[in-house]
Amino acid sequence: MNHYFDNAATSFPKPKEVSLYMSDYIDKQGGTYGRSAYPRVFEASANVESLREKLASFLGTKNSSQIFFTFNATVGLNTLLFGMDLHDCHILTSPLEHNATMRPLSKLAKEKNITFDYLPHGSDGKIDASKIDSVLKSSTRLIIINHQSNINGVIQPVQKIKAASGRIPVLLDLAQSAGHCDIELDNWDIDFAAFTGHKGLLGPTGTGGIYIKDPDKIEPLIYGGTGSNSDSFEMPSFIPDKYEAGTPNVAGLTGLLGALENRPVPLHTHEDFIELLDNISSIPQLTIFKAKNSNNQGPVFSINHCDYSCSEMAQILYDKYMIETRSGLHCAPLAHKTLGTFPSGTVRFALSVYHAKDDFDYLLSALRSL
Ligand SMILES: Cc1ncc(COP(=O)(O)O)c(C=O)c1O
Repeated sequence: MNHYFDNAATSFPKPKEVSLYMSDYIDKQGGTYGRSAYPRVFEASANVESLREKLASFLGTKNSSQIFFTFNATVGLNTLLFGMDLHDCHILTSPLEHNATMRPLSKLAKEKNITFDYLPHGSDGKIDASKIDSVLKSSTRLIIINHQSNINGVIQPVQKIKAASGRIPVLLDLAQSAGHCDIELDNWDIDFAAFTGHKGLLGPTGTGGIYIKDPDKIEPLIYGGTGSNSDSFEMPSFIPDKYEAGTPNVAGLTGLLGALENRPVPLHTHEDFIELLDNISSIPQLTIFKAKNSNNQGPVFSINHCDYSCSEMAQILYDKYMIETRSGLHCAPLAHKTLGTFPSGTVRFALSVYHAKDDFDYLLSALRSL
C-alpha cells in the first residue's frame, strides 16, 4: 500500500533506476561536467546532455540547447525574474502563484517600481482567458502562470492565455505540472519556463532548470567558472555556459535521467482519481478544494474539516492511518487567499503514478471515519 500523499512537496517513491543511475555514477563512473578531457568526463557530460534532450521532448520543445540546469524551480524562477531587467512596468500573474514567484516579485515591486495584478479567474482560480483584455496595460511586460496549482490542482489553459495576451511574454512555472500533464512549450509559443526535477518528473532533489526561448533576453543570476573562456573575468555569452556557472549536480542530473528513461506506468486512471474526488466531495464534514471542471484537474487537491484544524486533521491521518499529507499554506498564501482558505490553509493530498485504486479506497475510508 502507498500512504504517501505529499508528492507535491517531493515525489516518493522514485523509479528504482534513480538510485541505480546515481550510485553507478558515484561509485563507478565519477567525473565532472564540461571541464577536463578524459573518458570519465566525456561519459558524465554525455549523460547530462542526453538529459537535456530528454527534458526537451518532455517539455515539448525541439530546442534542447535552450534548457539550462538549476538546482530546483525556485532558483530557476529567480534566474528568470531577476535576469529580465524588469523595472518601471506592470506584471500579471495567475491567482494561484507560489511564493517561489511572489517573493522575487515582491522584491522587484519594492526596488524596481513594478506593480502587479492577478489575471481574471473563476472561484477555483482558473484563469478566464476571454477577460484578459480588461487587465492588460500598455506597461504590462510579463505574464506569469503557475501551470498547475499546488493547492487544488487546477491546470491553467495556457494556450488560450497566450493567444489572448498578444506579444506579452509568458513565463510558466512548471514545478507541479511537469511529469503530470501535457506541456508544449513550442506549440504554445512560451517565452520562459522553470521546472523542478524532484516532483512529477520523479527525479532526485537538487535538480531542475529553465527554458529560455531567446537567451539574449536574460542575464545570468550566478557568475563563476564554466570551464570555458577561462582567460576572462566575464561570463561567456554563449549557452549553456552563460547560465551554468559552477559544477552542476551531476549525480542528481544522472538520477533524473534514470527517472525519465524509466517512467513507470501509472497504477490508476484519471477516472479513478475523479471518482475519488467525487466520493470525498460527498462526505458532509469535509470541504474539498479542486478544479470545477475535471478536465483541468491535476493530481492535487485539498480539504478542510468542519471540526478539526488542518494540522489536527493531518496529525490524525498520520497517527491513525499512517497517511502522509501536508497541512497549512504550502508556501502559496496567494492561492489560499484566492480560494478563501487564508490564513489557516488546508490539508493537501498530492498523488503520484504509484497510487493504485486500493490506495484511493484506503484514503477514502480514512476520511469517512474522521
Ligand atoms: C507551484 C510551485 N512553484 C514552485 C515551487 C518550488 O519548487 P522547488 O522547491 O523545487 O524549487 C513549488 C514547490 O512546491 C511549487 O509548488
